[in-house]
Amino acid sequence: MLKVGLIGFGFMGHMHFDNYVRLASEGAQVQLVAICDLRIEELKQGAVAGNIATDQDEYDLSPYNLYDNIDAMLANEELDVVDICLPTYLHAEITCMMLEKGLHVFCEKPVAGNSTDGWKMVEVAKRNSKTLMIGQCLRFWPAYEYLKGCVEDGRFGKVKAGSFFRGSGFPQGWEDWYLDGSKSGGNIMDMHLHDTDMIHWLFGRPDKVSALGRKDDSGIRYDMVSTNYIYPDGKVLNAQSDWTLQGDFGFAMTYRVNFEGGNLVFENDVLKVNPNDGPGFIADLSEDRGYYREMKYFIQSIVSGEPITICTPESAVNTLEIIEAEIRSADNGGLLEEL
Ligand SMILES: NC(=O)c1ccc[n+]([C@@H]2O[C@H](COP(=O)([O-])OP(=O)(O)OC[C@H]3O[C@@H](n4cnc5c(N)ncnc54)[C@H](O)[C@@H]3O)[C@@H](O)[C@H]2O)c1
Repeated sequence: MLKVGLIGFGFMGHMHFDNYVRLASEGAQVQLVAICDLRIEELKQGAVAGNIATDQDEYDLSPYNLYDNIDAMLANEELDVVDICLPTYLHAEITCMMLEKGLHVFCEKPVAGNSTDGWKMVEVAKRNSKTLMIGQCLRFWPAYEYLKGCVEDGRFGKVKAGSFFRGSGFPQGWEDWYLDGSKSGGNIMDMHLHDTDMIHWLFGRPDKVSALGRKDDSGIRYDMVSTNYIYPDGKVLNAQSDWTLQGDFGFAMTYRVNFEGGNLVFENDVLKVNPNDGPGFIADLSEDRGYYREMKYFIQSIVSGEPITICTPESAVNTLEIIEAEIRSADNGGLLEEL
């Protein structure tokens, strides 16, 4: 039985909590035993805000050992796994610390605040022979897995073009850390990174990128971005993201991908498949979110001793390198950046 300590019990911490509870109820070899958050006393009182609703309005934390600092949790618990749902700027330091202590780590995306730190995490995991997985959840999201299947098996031929979008109002986090570009990396590194990761997963590393971005008034944080990804076969690929969509906008993630023999359109949580030579249909997809499916995969990999292949930490760092190229391009008014 894998004993898990969850570090960071904000929006994503609650999301991960739900999945551990569900996996345990389904008989998975995992048990959440401890939760650590600086403000654990305050968080005992209720749920927190995020883009997607968590399972419960009120959380009963009485079955868990609660801590307000990481050292105390480590001193008192015999853990196998830690799950890191901390703000991005803390990922590298805390992940490396946990790996050095001989624990397996699941860490939320982005892997780190920069790729140098990301490569250090990869090295520390290897040296300690521990599993490290980064929560690039779209790789496990049913509508995006379906797209991956179409790209891989060629049922509609080759991809000619694709357009990806993700947007919301400003994310709310502990002490407004998302709004501090030096801590979150802004929309381009936080939210847009999901679609960059998807394009990377589907098509490999692009040769070049060209990005236009718009910063907040402080001039530090990219709040919106539009990137073209350049591949040798000339497919037309773009991803846009914007976290300044206020009012009643809510949250949206969409894509439209055009193959030689049909097209896929994902919007409002529905995936419409339109073959060129027949009637369109709604894809029959699992209702499970990527958050649940990635966690199940991570736990199964550790229990079975099988290596992580769908989302290696190396590939998560490669995604961050693409984002860094996008930032350099956006800093230069959209100049093509080589990768
Ligand atoms: N995969 C996704 O779709 C997705 C969605 C949202 C956020 N995220 C990522 O998840 C991570 C967390 O984001 P969030 O929205 O949950 O943030 P959040 O601000 O809601 O939660 C972070 C929590 O960490 C706690 N914390 C801060 N420093 C700490 C410390 N030293 N020790 C213990 N606790 C500490 C805070 O009190 C807070 O409760 C970020 O890296 C973010 O990019 C991923």
